[in-house]
Amino acid sequence: MQIRFADSRPDGDFALVLPVASAGAESVKGVGAEIDGALKRQRFDGEPSSVAEHFVDGRRILVVGIGKAPITGEAAEKLGGTASARLLVSGEKHAVIDLTGLGYDADAAARVALGAALRAWRYDRYRTRLKDKQKPSLNEVTIVGGGSGAEARWAGRWLPVLEGVSLTRELVTEPANIIYPESFVARCAGLADHGIAIEVLDAAAMRKLGMGALLGVAQGSVREPKMLVLRWNGGAKDATPVVFIGKGVTFDTGGISIKPAQGMEMMKWDMGGAGAVVGALKALALRKAKANVVGVCALVENMPGGNAQRPGDVVTTMSGQTVEVINTDAEGRLILCDAMTWAQKTFKPKTMIDLATLTGAMVISLGHEFGGIFANDDSLAKELDKAGAASGDRLWRLPMAEAYDRLIDSPIADIKNVGPREAGSITAAQFLGRFVDEGVRWAHLDIAGMAWSDKVGTTFDKGATGYGVRVLDQFVEDTAER
Ligand code: BES
Ligand code: MN
Ligand code: ZN
Repeated sequence: MQIRFADSRPDGDFALVLPVASAGAESVKGVGAEIDGALKRQRFDGEPSSVAEHFVDGRRILVVGIGKAPITGEAAEKLGGTASARLLVSGEKHAVIDLTGLGYDADAAARVALGAALRAWRYDRYRTRLKDKQKPSLNEVTIVGGGSGAEARWAGRWLPVLEGVSLTRELVTEPANIIYPESFVARCAGLADHGIAIEVLDAAAMRKLGMGALLGVAQGSVREPKMLVLRWNGGAKDATPVVFIGKGVTFDTGGISIKPAQGMEMMKWDMGGAGAVVGALKALALRKAKANVVGVCALVENMPGGNAQRPGDVVTTMSGQTVEVINTDAEGRLILCDAMTWAQKTFKPKTMIDLATLTGAMVISLGHEFGGIFANDDSLAKELDKAGAASGDRLWRLPMAEAYDRLIDSPIADIKNVGPREAGSITAAQFLGRFVDEGVRWAHLDIAGMAWSDKVGTTFDKGATGYGVRVLDQFVEDTAER
């Protein structure tokens, strides 16, 4: 989608989008009185996301509610998202969103564009029989009246985020016969063009490093596991990087502890954590963030088979700690622990954040509105909470405690990979916590309920949401870039 900014409405054919606050919902300035009656008949009240439509002299006019002041970034995105959702397959090619006189600053105007572009994202690669009227028609959005800095703000701050989120959504949407560890890595190769240094560890390297837990998960699959390492060095030469780690299970059958058939296809998006890490690094590189950031993606496929690991197997992690694999479906923590150990040894970070579609229990706790956050440090939890709220990737903190930790003691090894059914997300976090080095600020984001949506949202269609990219991007801006 082409995004433009202008001081006044362009010439030619377009649909005109007029934002209207709830206070002024009874009349629309500059259109003529007949539209006011039309609004009334559509029960238009100016509430956020409410829409009324009208044609004047052959031009479609879309009136979109923006609620009450103040104009927040979130409200701005909602306006753009509402307009583009409504016009995407409407037959209109060009939408002009006129913000003149409404008090949008440059950032808010750019975020109207971001909302419009994010909401319009879809992946039609495998839809070969779409009828013309099912195809998107909208390919251009012009934001009018956003002030002089809007275009620069778009190009420098929010277009990079759009690109990052789009890459994440693509990786998450692709099925597991297309995206597996090796092809995931290949799909990220282009990031080198944006100044990201790419390194890949293969199975032989992992064996040498002693990553027995990760390799144990991978051994049932014919797909070779990979550890993808992305480095963006936009900060001071000697500044220690912040490290992001992503769970990249390109398909999770459960392994020998196999999942039921119903809904198993969803497990193609069990690499949503890794996808978010990749998207965040892309956004940071495109906007040339003044920070040093490392993204580590642990990529494996979890399959049953003659060589698959068995319940009861004991594996030795890179940290030296041994794990009794009670349930092969609790594989995310097994790959993350080795990735965390390796990342801490290699980069000596002060701050490490992992993202993972880790537990079904997380979906039971928070549904699809908030991701869960677990942390060993209150200040880090607060920083992430703040970045989450500002970016729209909302987070809610859950507890960690010694008493939960005891639930994963094993009678035969140092740890077992599952606890009881209760508090399943917390015991998963406790498992990861055992692999955090002294003095490292660590947070774990369980995004199982967030990576995919069965309902449309304000800035996403059904499917991959791209959740996680924006909170990481905002966190870097708030903390490492100052
Ligand atoms: N990838 C799943 C978690 C998941 C479930 C993500 C549903 C998104 C939607 C994870 O690997 C898993 O299978 N977890 C098990 C853990 C259990 C065996 C302790 C679960 O949540 O059931
Ligand atoms: Mn699993
Ligand atoms: Zn999984």
